[in-house]
Amino acid sequence: MPYKHTIATQLANIVNLDLEAVAKMLETPKDPKMGDLAFPCFQLAKTLRKAPPVIAAEVAEQLAPALKEAGVPVANVQVVGAYINFFLDQQAVAGDVIAAVLTQKEQYGHSSLGGGANVTIDLSSPNIAKPFSMGHLRSTVIGNALANILEKLGYNPVRINHLGDWGTQFGKLIVAYKKWGSEEAVRANPIPELLRLYVKFHDEAKEHPELEDQGREWFKKLEDGDEEAAQLWQWFRDESLKEFNKTYELMGIKFDSLHGEAFYNDKMDRVVKELEEKGLLVEDEGAMVVKLDEYDMPPCLIKKSDGATLYATRDLAAALYRQDSYQFAKALYVVGGEQRLHFKQVFKVLEKMGYDFAKEMHHIPFGMMLKDGKKMSTRKGKVILLDEVLQNAIDDVKKVIAEKNPTLENANKVAEQVGVGAIIFHDLKNFRLNDINFSLEEMLTFEGETGPYVQYTHARANSILRKAGYVENAGVTLPEGALEGPEAWAVVTLLLNFPNIIQRAGEDFDPSALGKYIIDLAQAFNKFYANVRVLAEDEAVKQARLQLVAATATVLKEGLRLLGLEAPAEM
Ligand code: ARG
Repeated sequence: MPYKHTIATQLANIVNLDLEAVAKMLETPKDPKMGDLAFPCFQLAKTLRKAPPVIAAEVAEQLAPALKEAGVPVANVQVVGAYINFFLDQQAVAGDVIAAVLTQKEQYGHSSLGGGANVTIDLSSPNIAKPFSMGHLRSTVIGNALANILEKLGYNPVRINHLGDWGTQFGKLIVAYKKWGSEEAVRANPIPELLRLYVKFHDEAKEHPELEDQGREWFKKLEDGDEEAAQLWQWFRDESLKEFNKTYELMGIKFDSLHGEAFYNDKMDRVVKELEEKGLLVEDEGAMVVKLDEYDMPPCLIKKSDGATLYATRDLAAALYRQDSYQFAKALYVVGGEQRLHFKQVFKVLEKMGYDFAKEMHHIPFGMMLKDGKKMSTRKGKVILLDEVLQNAIDDVKKVIAEKNPTLENANKVAEQVGVGAIIFHDLKNFRLNDINFSLEEMLTFEGETGPYVQYTHARANSILRKAGYVENAGVTLPEGALEGPEAWAVVTLLLNFPNIIQRAGEDFDPSALGKYIIDLAQAFNKFYANVRVLAEDEAVKQARLQLVAATATVLKEGLRLLGLEAPAEM
């Protein structure tokens, strides 16, 4: 509810309670006849030793002038029994918010909260030589939305793709390639072929365990800079990235850094040395670890008995490197919930090393993508390939366009924007910790809570403006009655709430707050359009209503942009 915060602040002053307690007591009445907000005075009776209706009357008397002073457009403060009911001046509120959106345009909702501070966002981070999984898709989509939202809140996001391009698996891959692979096969079909080699390695290793040793040896060579190993590794990485980049391009996602795990190969000695110096490194069954018993956590593995470093070691090196390079105010890691323990351990080790910035590091976990209610697994070949999913979505949208709007210009481009948008939105409307069920059919419907529905609503708003010959104009004069009624008011209050929603989405690292908001706005708008005649006879009334349409289109588009979706003007 708009102005709730300001009203709560003024109330808190008068009744001498803290803001949070008052905000909790403020209700939104079910019946709009009881006001836009209501404040029950029962709880104050004990401390003030007066009957609740008496308190209500006294508080209301002081409150009315205080609210005026604070610039809250209240039309009426009414006392009914023990309740103080507030009625906002809906015309004034509507005029204010429409003017704000139409003048600020896509800047509406910007804030300087972040003060330009750097926030590193570790996102996407697929593993080289393996298909891009649905988990990595979730990380990409959630991480990118968070980056956009934080940017709007005045932070400087640094998008880092911490590629999985290092580790013993690359030794195994080199062995498999040399035994069963060929250059042509990899070139022709890089990721499936590399995956085939990797799977074959594991099959063969069951019967020939000596392969495992060879794999370790080749990884050792790679770590030590052996030329042949390095060349093969570089080539696998390049070929994989070429494939991943097609997907990123289609999704409109760019990174500020592609420093993956390999980048830290020569930066881990520093970590190991520092851990030693600080007396944190101990031997445990031949390996070097940092004990975390006091936190009820298993030890963090730093070095294996053969001297090879590990995933956690690379994350420690990366954290120090990121703090050195960016002096981050916050460091986010958008990685699936399975890695909870890993990040807890890494953050604790940094804390034990004496780094205060560890407090500002956050693992942003998310749930799984399920297929028919079951987990997908790479091993059993039960993967859904992202490329195929995107392509299928785009093809399906093309069919819909060909049927419904055969003369649409740029139909292919629009199909891409809608197909890709459907997949992104399906993820972001759900709270990230929930598992989500993969259903292309559900994602692609134009009705219901989907990306295409919101994009379609936006395009519809634009078409209304086009057909009405609306000329952009931020000078708002609202004739009496132009925006009366619950349908217009619902749209107005949502528009007013946009900045708060962005802030909440950013502070809670929760893009779904924005996803749900956009659905609400689209629904409220469609209801408004169905019930109120926008093209009214009276020219001034028509202009005012068109301005509400224009403001809605602007906020829908900006909201979609923040989530990573395009909003075509026509579809
Ligand atoms: N490549 C890893 C995986 O697929 C994710 C990396 C996440 N980022 C990190 N800094 N550890 O599991």
